[in-house]
Amino acid sequence: MNTRLLHDDPQGIETAAAILRAGGLVAFGTETVYGLGADAGNDRAVRAIYTAKGRPGINPLISHFASADAAFAQVEATPLARMLAGRFWPGPLTLVLPRARDCAISTIATAGLPTAAVRVPAGRTIHALLTACGFPVVAPSANPSGRVSPSDAQHVLAGLDGRIDAVLDCGPCPVGVESTIVDLSSARPVLLRPGGITLEMLEDACGMPVATMAGSDDARPSAPGQLSSHYAPGLPVRLEARSVAANEALLAFGPALPGSGLVWNLSADGDLHEAAARLFAGLRFLDMEGHRRGLVGIAVQHVPAHGMGRAIRDRLIRAASPRP
Ligand code: TXA
Ligand code: MG
Repeated sequence: MNTRLLHDDPQGIETAAAILRAGGLVAFGTETVYGLGADAGNDRAVRAIYTAKGRPGINPLISHFASADAAFAQVEATPLARMLAGRFWPGPLTLVLPRARDCAISTIATAGLPTAAVRVPAGRTIHALLTACGFPVVAPSANPSGRVSPSDAQHVLAGLDGRIDAVLDCGPCPVGVESTIVDLSSARPVLLRPGGITLEMLEDACGMPVATMAGSDDARPSAPGQLSSHYAPGLPVRLEARSVAANEALLAFGPALPGSGLVWNLSADGDLHEAAARLFAGLRFLDMEGHRRGLVGIAVQHVPAHGMGRAIRDRLIRAASPRP
């Protein structure tokens, strides 16, 4: 299959919508990462996403909508869900809620679960595309399963060229890490994945503590598919580095440690939002260039565990986890 690169203009958006309507696969930029989209109601198209990514069928997909009203037509929204949507949509927050009785989302996309994950992403182009489609669009991150997520169109092509119909080039993703996922299907909200909306923002909006899934492991993943090894570059990753060897690449945060000739600084000023936006591009760059130079691994400096640091650390811990 020849993967087309579509431009961020009315013609590119209409072509992308036409491919999705016809059951094809189109990658597009959101504020978080690039997603690989398909018509959520088309079983064959949804199956093709799993095939293109090599994704396990037990790992359900997030459905994307142009508006909160469109999202809440597919799930049973609670007052808390409506409040969070009002506060954070469009934006990097995904809500897990019971499927509505007449939910149009393929049961393959929700992996047979009684719940569905929904979100309204931010961004002019993705909003125009979702509006043109008029149906829910499922989209996992547009990378081969288990690898580093894409934050620009070239990253998508590096992993999926020839396996999908098109990429709509929406430029670099401003947030840079995936959406925060909150399970609202039981009495109390539970954070399933830290992301672009911080836990502090969520708890402030909810007016109550939000439980996290700190104790989850591979036997009982917090969200199906939240397995410990994920976001993995080719080179091994070593966390909390206090020094770096000459044969290692360095992912720095704040003042860079001396000793490596290959450095990507997430944020020299120690800004966690800048660090999130530069995270996946940095892992890709150090991996590719480190391989070329024959380096043995990527050392990562400490990143604080508050605010956006929680999502960054979550991705780094998975990147460093033993590979299956
Ligand atoms: O920012 C994002 O969320 C990006 C963009 C493209 O929207 N998408 C994304 O999708 O990160 P993906 O497939 O890489 O991650 C989706 C996560 C998985 O961990 C999956 O297990 C969880 O969402 N999920 C989906 N449906 C769920 C459900 N019904 N219950 C619990 N977790 C669910
Ligand atoms: Mg992903």
